[in-house]
Amino acid sequence: MRGTGQRESIRVTYQKKLMVCLGVAVLITAMIHGCVSVTAQMSSGERLYRANCASCHRLIGPEEHDAAMWSHYVDEYGTGLDEVQKREVLVYLTQGK
Ligand code: HEC
Repeated sequence: MRGTGQRESIRVTYQKKLMVCLGVAVLITAMIHGCVSVTAQMSSGERLYRANCASCHRLIGPEEHDAAMWSHYVDEYGTGLDEVQKREVLVYLTQGK
């Protein structure tokens, strides 16, 4: 009786582990797939710009301001971005990538 119970709990543990592994595998596959398909279309600067700079007003076209003005605006409005992210946004706005 006791033996059967032990085997049962070992099997349950094994199944749980299998489920976790499967879950992780699916998650990683989804993440890789997501990253690849997004970066294939957009630079991270463009993504940051779209995500952070169009909540209060329309998405302003990169061609609407010159590099000096963009630098000023990204500094003024990019309060939620760190220095690296600001650079990426600026590169996108001034060099299109
Ligand atoms: C919290 C709200 C808010 C966010 C987020 C925001 N802005 Fe703005 N932005 C404004 C407001 C308000 C104005 C209008 C100020 C004015 O016209 O005097 C403005 C104006 C501008 C202008 C000048 C107006 C124009 O049409 O050219 C630019 C350029 C600009 N923002 C760029 C950015 C960029 C780049 C980001 C992201 C880093 C950003 N904004 C994020 C509120 C925001």
